[in-house]
Amino acid sequence: MGDSGSEGNWTYGDYLQLPALLELQGENRGVSPDEMHFIIVHQTFELWFKQVIRELTEVRDILAQDHVPEDDIPRAVDHLGRTTEIFRLMANQWTVLETLTPQGFLAFRDGLGTASGFESYQMREFEILLGLANEDRLYGMDPISTFRKLAKNSERDAAILARLEDVASKPSLSESLMRWVSRTPIMGSLAGNDGDEDAVAEYIETHLNSHEKIGKQASERMSGYGASSSEEAAERFAASHQGAIDFLKPDGNVSRARAGLLFIESYRELPLLTWPRTLIDAIVELEESMVKWRHSHARMVERIMGRRIGTGGTSGVDYLDATSQYRIFKDLWAVRTILVKPDFRPELKNAEFYGYSSEN
Ligand code: HEM
Repeated sequence: MGDSGSEGNWTYGDYLQLPALLELQGENRGVSPDEMHFIIVHQTFELWFKQVIRELTEVRDILAQDHVPEDDIPRAVDHLGRTTEIFRLMANQWTVLETLTPQGFLAFRDGLGTASGFESYQMREFEILLGLANEDRLYGMDPISTFRKLAKNSERDAAILARLEDVASKPSLSESLMRWVSRTPIMGSLAGNDGDEDAVAEYIETHLNSHEKIGKQASERMSGYGASSSEEAAERFAASHQGAIDFLKPDGNVSRARAGLLFIESYRELPLLTWPRTLIDAIVELEESMVKWRHSHARMVERIMGRRIGTGGTSGVDYLDATSQYRIFKDLWAVRTILVKPDFRPELKNAEFYGYSSEN
């Protein structure tokens, strides 16, 4: 920044680079008050996206370490907490846009051409950073392909592509998290130690037995009541039990990462698991806030332009509603479906390992 910055001798305007920032809202093109508001709302979102990328990169880097020092976890939780608050703020910011009337929007919409939030490369960056897989996107779309086409236009576009390719080449936050979770001590057994596989398999089998028993009891209780016949209810519970088996033993082998998640969620009260479960809660909260943000975008769009086709060429509201079904941290959501009530959990082994002494 300017010379005035030496030794903290800034003016407010210099420190924030306000003259440069305040020249970017379209007044040179003579935009209407409605359009200037439209631009400012977009720009503030993009500024927050920039911060979101910064925060989430920190979290990814913390979790991607081969050994994550325990005192790094509170820092990761703080970065996630800030990101969640940013999404909550952005979800509320749509109400400012909703002051734009359908006619007010149509008055300048043609001028946008094919420009659309669809081309927000910062949005794509944080999605990739978090780990939204292409096969989980609508039509299996590869978001980088849009930027590969644009990259030919200018050096700036080429730099955007390079940035996206770089983040895509690194392990995502979701992958790093699952690798970290796979090292969770389960029933006091450490990953990689002798006998660990047996200890984890026994834990999983005991849990699955409880799960099946609870399902059978519930299905018997339901027979004669509710929306389905007793056969249908029994089938549904059997299918849900099979779902639990498939989740914990994809391809027939126990997934240690999912077993670790199940263990953390099941024994949340253990002192040693305080930070792991706090971290997982922070990620679930973040994803929930993102889903709500996507949902409220769709409601705002429906109100302002109904079901028109988007300037980016998608089906518009239907497309946006479908994106609110995306889940990046699928295992964190799925594990909730297969938990059992506290009294039915497998008995905890090696309680002292988790910070419980025989006295308490
Ligand atoms: C009048 C206001 C707005 C309307 C009518 C609108 C409409 C749309 C539509 C229809 C799409 C789907 C893609 C397409 O076909 O164009 C879209 C995508 C998107 N919009 Fe908006 N939008 C508005 C404001 C905003 C604002 C203020 C932001 C903030 C940056 C934003 C960010 C995005 C993003 C990131 C996407 C891509 C979503 C995805 O692919 O997952 N939009 N928008």
